[in-house]
Amino acid sequence: MAEKDNGKINVGVDLGTSNLLIYIEGRGVVFKEPSIIAIDKATQKVVAVGNEAAELVGKVHDKVEVIKPLKGGVISDIEMIREILDFTFDKLLPGGVQSIHKLLLCMPSEITATEKEAIIKLGNELGVQRTKIEEEIKASAIGGGINIYTPIGNLVIDIGGGTTNIGVISLGDVVLSKSTKVAGDFFDKQIMHHLKDKHKLEIGLQTAEKIKIKLASLVGDLPCDEEENVLTYNAMGRDLISGLPRMAVVGAKEIRKIMLECFESIKSTLISTLEIMPPELSGDLVDNGITITGGGALIKGVREYFEEIVKINVKIASSPINAVVDGTKSLLKIEREHYYGDY
Ligand SMILES: Nc1ncnc2c1ncn2[C@@H]1O[C@H](COP(=O)(O)OP(=O)(O)OP(=O)(O)O)[C@@H](O)[C@H]1O
Ligand SMILES: [Mg+2]
Repeated sequence: MAEKDNGKINVGVDLGTSNLLIYIEGRGVVFKEPSIIAIDKATQKVVAVGNEAAELVGKVHDKVEVIKPLKGGVISDIEMIREILDFTFDKLLPGGVQSIHKLLLCMPSEITATEKEAIIKLGNELGVQRTKIEEEIKASAIGGGINIYTPIGNLVIDIGGGTTNIGVISLGDVVLSKSTKVAGDFFDKQIMHHLKDKHKLEIGLQTAEKIKIKLASLVGDLPCDEEENVLTYNAMGRDLISGLPRMAVVGAKEIRKIMLECFESIKSTLISTLEIMPPELSGDLVDNGITITGGGALIKGVREYFEEIVKINVKIASSPINAVVDGTKSLLKIEREHYYGDY
């Protein structure tokens, strides 16, 4: 639509700790890959971005550096964010990043004013005409299927890679939000530590993530195969004592224990959010329930886990990892319809 709209290209970006998702008006979600970049140390040239860069994690020689420019939901390397955006838009758009009229970037609510300024400046330097930052929890609520423009309280829990963000939204804005660094990356680290402690095996974070995706669960039956055998994962790593390569069989039961320990912190963040929520908005949740977005929404039993705590209806977004970028679609559209300034 926007490309026909006076040749203006409007773009929505979810720059997450784990995943970078890009929506181009009129084309849809055109990019969904890990927020990872590989750089040639000598020339500082980009070697790979996204999936290709992710394949290099933990496997490169000392000439190439693999960088995750967001850690724990915050920007840790703005130069690398510039490189990722520049490189990716060069591939996606014939005119590169300079052909973007409006760039709507979703960032965590916690980013500081200085970080916001740095991102806007980055957009200007790359040649984007207008760069706007939006709170990712707001976009994730929209993408999670909530009509945020009514005077009704809504609560969203976005369990991402770097942070779990809990936001209360009403009348189109974030009324309050809280976050904890207990999210996907933290779960992976805890699984890695567990393998070291209990199985005397050192594994990489990639393996820990694979274990989590296959085995993680919170309540209800443990994940099983078709023959109803509880799932296991054959984890390959290095024996802590002998230093030799070895395999350990990890079970879904031991991973449940780790996940429940991790979720204690998410549970307390949720309870402390509910405690300070204005009572009228809090009452709205009885009808509206709570919505879960982000990759962590895919953990087995997550809905039942929160329903048990809050005793109200809990919904999982239909496409949890896409919720933020899907929200940018509506945000760009709403602005186009209601904003008559220099749009
Ligand atoms: N099926 C699954 N089960 C459990 N976890 C999963 C599953 N699929 C993805 N994840 C995890 O979800 C996380 C990524 O989610 P998401 O893309 O929402 O994060 P992000 O937006 O990049 O991070 P943040 O919002 O914290 O900056 C990763 O930790 C990934 O391992
Ligand atoms: Mg996110």
